[in-house]
Amino acid sequence: MNLFIPLVVAGILGVIGAMVGPKAGVVFGIGLPYAAMGIFLAGFVYRILKWAKAPVPFRITTTCGQQKSLPWFKHAKLDSPFTPVQTMARMALEVLCFRSLFRNSVADTKKGRLVYGPNELLWAAALAFHYSFLIIFLRHYRFFAEPVPFFINGLDRLDSFFEIGLPPLLLSDVLIVGALSVLLLRRLVSPQLRYISQAGDYFPLFLILGIALTGMAMRYIEPFKVPIQEVKQLAMGLVTLHPYKPPFPMPMFYAHITLVSALFICFPFSKLMHMGGIFLSPTRNLPNNSRAVRHINPWNPVVKTHTYAEWEHEFRDKIEGAGIPLDSEQGAEAVESAKV
Ligand code: HEM
Repeated sequence: MNLFIPLVVAGILGVIGAMVGPKAGVVFGIGLPYAAMGIFLAGFVYRILKWAKAPVPFRITTTCGQQKSLPWFKHAKLDSPFTPVQTMARMALEVLCFRSLFRNSVADTKKGRLVYGPNELLWAAALAFHYSFLIIFLRHYRFFAEPVPFFINGLDRLDSFFEIGLPPLLLSDVLIVGALSVLLLRRLVSPQLRYISQAGDYFPLFLILGIALTGMAMRYIEPFKVPIQEVKQLAMGLVTLHPYKPPFPMPMFYAHITLVSALFICFPFSKLMHMGGIFLSPTRNLPNNSRAVRHINPWNPVVKTHTYAEWEHEFRDKIEGAGIPLDSEQGAEAVESAKV
């Protein structure tokens, strides 16, 4: 069920887009993208603000190395950062290279024995997926800008470097479909992973796979090709707030745009929010300096204290009456004898 419901929902969304889109172009080509963008922006900002407001009174940095200590202990600057610069360096490696995923190990049984080993395939597939998505996202900028910035054309040339076929096969297309397949198969093949996988884990994978496959159909398969000038006019109309509805039926394009809109709508409510959340994660974004800096919880209640000196003063008569020496007098005597 966790697998089939997301698959069916993503499939239905694509089919609805393909069938209804051309007839209801205003709804699917204009209304839906605007609604999706509104929900995405509002939801994203709401969740970021909610996280930003969450109190983090103490340093809870996850560390996996020697913290800064006495000079003769070698400090692991990246694994237990002490300064903001070291923290930023660790964060950059995390965001750009998925460093912690690279160091993630996997447990397995080999010849009846439990063994731990590296999990480089997950790291490579995750990296390939995220970078190919980024490149495709940037390349799409050509639909939304006139003239197209030079670096987008450069990216396009680099992406089609091998010049296989016409239109040339894009490396990012191969990578995204390959990486998404690995990420999906990984959940399906391993019984443990299948057991813990939720509908929310599969749905984004199916949506993005659907977006990539409908996009590739438009680019490489003759009957599904679309008039790019019309698409550009629609895209420019959306961003300049002068909506335009192409007069042609473009079922594959409407399926594509419906799936893209669904992705943007569910983004703020799904695990995809890790895109913004990583920057607000207190286990990552704080220097581990608790031994050097005293962090006081800013919302600690004011505690009314009653010191021993105050207590002694309060019960002085009774203490004297019981013949018990008073600390305050002992202190005074000690001072006197020290003078002598
Ligand atoms: C999450 C956002 C999106 C993703 C991941 C995505 C993905 C893709 C992919 C993988 C392709 C195959 C060819 C290529 O890589 O360029 C493609 C093609 C295409 N996409 Fe998207 N897309 C997205 C958003 C959009 C939007 C908003 C539009 C509307 C303007 C759009 C219109 C198109 C068109 C017209 C093609 C065919 C391009 C061609 O024939 O060269 N896409 N898309």
